[in-house]
Amino acid sequence: MYKEPEKLVLGNILPGPFSGVAMINKIEDGTTRNGNPYLRVFITDGEMTQLISDFDSGYTTMTFPFPEGSVVIVSGLRSGQYLNLKNVVPYTGTTYSAVDFVRSTEEEGAHYFDDLLIHLQEDEYFNPAINTKSNYDRLYTLAIKLLTKNKAAFCISPAGMSVHHDVVGGLAYHTFRMVKMAEKLVEVYDFLNSELLICGAALHDIGKIREMGFNPYGAIEYTVDGNLFGHAYMGAQMVQEEANLEGSNYNPEEVRLLTHLLLSHHGKQEHGAVVPPAIPEAKALNYIDMLDADMWKAEELYRTELTEPGSATPTKAKPLYDKLLYRPDYFNGEPVDNGDSGAGQA
Ligand SMILES: [Fe+2]
Ligand SMILES: [Fe+2]
Repeated sequence: MYKEPEKLVLGNILPGPFSGVAMINKIEDGTTRNGNPYLRVFITDGEMTQLISDFDSGYTTMTFPFPEGSVVIVSGLRSGQYLNLKNVVPYTGTTYSAVDFVRSTEEEGAHYFDDLLIHLQEDEYFNPAINTKSNYDRLYTLAIKLLTKNKAAFCISPAGMSVHHDVVGGLAYHTFRMVKMAEKLVEVYDFLNSELLICGAALHDIGKIREMGFNPYGAIEYTVDGNLFGHAYMGAQMVQEEANLEGSNYNPEEVRLLTHLLLSHHGKQEHGAVVPPAIPEAKALNYIDMLDADMWKAEELYRTELTEPGSATPTKAKPLYDKLLYRPDYFNGEPVDNGDSGAGQA
């Protein structure tokens, strides 16, 4: 009897064989380190996109029988963090169609975006800025305006291709966490310009909405400008454009420093910074950006790796954890009492 295959949930693929329905949203020709050609097939479950490498079939983008946008049953093998393609057949069932795999709404990030704006508005109210008594417009105003006019793109944008927050809505989620960290940091290091650091956190990756785009099937692609300029530069450009709009009246020194924060937030030029940080707020922004990427990676590995408490995740968690990632065992193998039994009987 025919059994309808299930949709593949990419975030839940464990090491070993896997199979399920997915949509191919991008294909590319690749070359291994040894110079051998292979096919890079990107599949999506509608939430995230994953690369599956096809080393065996000999197909190229010219000969691969499934065009981008095909809904297929894909089988493969996960070893470590890599997925290898074993077989693809057309999906002929009626449960799923291409629309089930294309995410076109901004709802994923909208929730974090709205919270982000609330935080900025509250910070504006509670944190007196150095120019409160002047006639200049606040940096908070600039941040809120720039985010609001780019809301739709910001809410669907991922924050990365593969290293961190590589899901739709990832940019809003990452930015929201960054702003919350900036708020904590300025309580401890109270000599910092809180308005500058918080607005820097809110805008630091906004250039990603120009750096990355989607093909018609939802696959993330770098734009031409993204490849040529990078998001640090493009974000700085957006800040400059907003600050120079007719009718605005920002403190030129504050705009200059905010621009510096965006240009330097990757810390080192080899990591994509246009210039290295030259003020402590810029250094702080670089640290919390790296911290959030590291925490995200750990969360993802804990969520997706088949690991017993008291052992290390089988995947080498590079590039963010050098050797391994350990899953603690606070209960010595005892099952965790989740409160279902015996609670409240003391
Ligand atoms: Fe960045
Ligand atoms: Fe970032």
